[in-house]
Amino acid sequence: MVKIRAPRGTHDVLPAEAGRWEFLEETFKKICRLYNFGEIRTPMFEETELFVRGVGEESDIVKKEMYTFKDRGGRELALRPEGTAGIVRAYIERGLHNVPHPVKLYYCGPMFRYDRPQAGRQRQFYQMGIEVFGSREPACDVEVIEVTAHFFEELGLKDLQLHINSVGCRDCRPAYQEHLSRSCLENSDLLCDECRRRVSTNPLRILDCKLESCAEVMKGAPQIGAHLCSCCREHFEEVLALLGSLNRPYVLDEHLVRGLDYYTNTAFEFISTHLGAQNSLGGGGRYDNLVETCGGAPTPGVGMALGVERVLLAMEKGDLSPWTAAPEGAFLAFEGSGREKEELSMLYRIRRRGIRADRDYLKRSLKAKMKFANRNNFRYVLFYGEEEEKRRKIKIRDMSDGTEQEMTVEQAVAFLVDNSE
Ligand code: HAM
Repeated sequence: MVKIRAPRGTHDVLPAEAGRWEFLEETFKKICRLYNFGEIRTPMFEETELFVRGVGEESDIVKKEMYTFKDRGGRELALRPEGTAGIVRAYIERGLHNVPHPVKLYYCGPMFRYDRPQAGRQRQFYQMGIEVFGSREPACDVEVIEVTAHFFEELGLKDLQLHINSVGCRDCRPAYQEHLSRSCLENSDLLCDECRRRVSTNPLRILDCKLESCAEVMKGAPQIGAHLCSCCREHFEEVLALLGSLNRPYVLDEHLVRGLDYYTNTAFEFISTHLGAQNSLGGGGRYDNLVETCGGAPTPGVGMALGVERVLLAMEKGDLSPWTAAPEGAFLAFEGSGREKEELSMLYRIRRRGIRADRDYLKRSLKAKMKFANRNNFRYVLFYGEEEEKRRKIKIRDMSDGTEQEMTVEQAVAFLVDNSE
């Protein structure tokens, strides 16, 4: 029979890895709560139209990377390629515009993009992100950046660079795009096929084409900074000044435009200097027209999302493993079938006291039980055999140093409770 395999670009998180995922998610949630963000969970699929309108018809994500399907009722749906559009939909539909502003939300979950898989790029990947609705204050942009930086710092990730740019607004961007497209036309024979097409559809995206030949052409292209309207310039200057006041280093990157079309003003990315092509660990920016584009009242917004798989890759490169847990809990290794009832009774009793505990279910030898306990990261092994029964005592072995002591069941339970975290 042909083997069924996981779909290309997906992966399974096995128990040996799950601890690090849990650690990242817990750390992210802890930081979001510190900054007064509340959790939101939206569906993994939405009407396709939401992403067409929100992310942009001309974006690669919508044009080439969405998993779209018709359901049995004939509805056009898409697996979410990102989280922001769905959250904007929920903000409008669920009356979040009526609660006190700014509305600060965080989320975690899988996203789906049909892209060519490679290291750090999957078809199903896991994002953690935040969104802030209702304020145009530059301090809000900075807060979003600071949450992200705080998270990376908490993980011990160094050598990350914050790249930042302003992509202007719908008043000043069209003139710049016009200018850019004219300049690109002069060298269009040097551009890749995709970028040649973008000259008329989405010239901004040529700025971050990774091909050497396109990058060379864009070196001489007009810079957006010189074309911002006074409102956008002042906003950006204030964001940079606030970052400066917080001693947050940044790289001004006029070629940073991001792959989603909803951005206005601030756009940023945290880049790892140790990863290859997929070096953006997280990114985001301001999207002051998105709520309106999706059918709500004009409402400013700013947010970011980071990719868990890429963060894990960067941590691996940096040899960081803050999730490593010290051995804990007790493995019961009672000997003899006559002692099974006593073993079960103690096992359930200590679990009820909040102590991680397990026993053997495969009739292993004592030696094999010890090995199993070790591999499963148990701190203590509890023995109860013929000798111990004569003395009505349990023998407790501390696997960290091999020391052993005997005590009654009552004392053993108290000992485990006292010696657990
Ligand atoms: P994005 O830059 O498309 O932004 O994705 C954010 C992060 O998700 C990336 O920096 C990367 O770490 C991760 N990521 C993206 N695609 C993949 C992939 N195929 N495989 C693995 N990881 C990936 C957004 O999605 C925006 N919604 C962020 C945002 C929120 N902007 C405002 N609010």
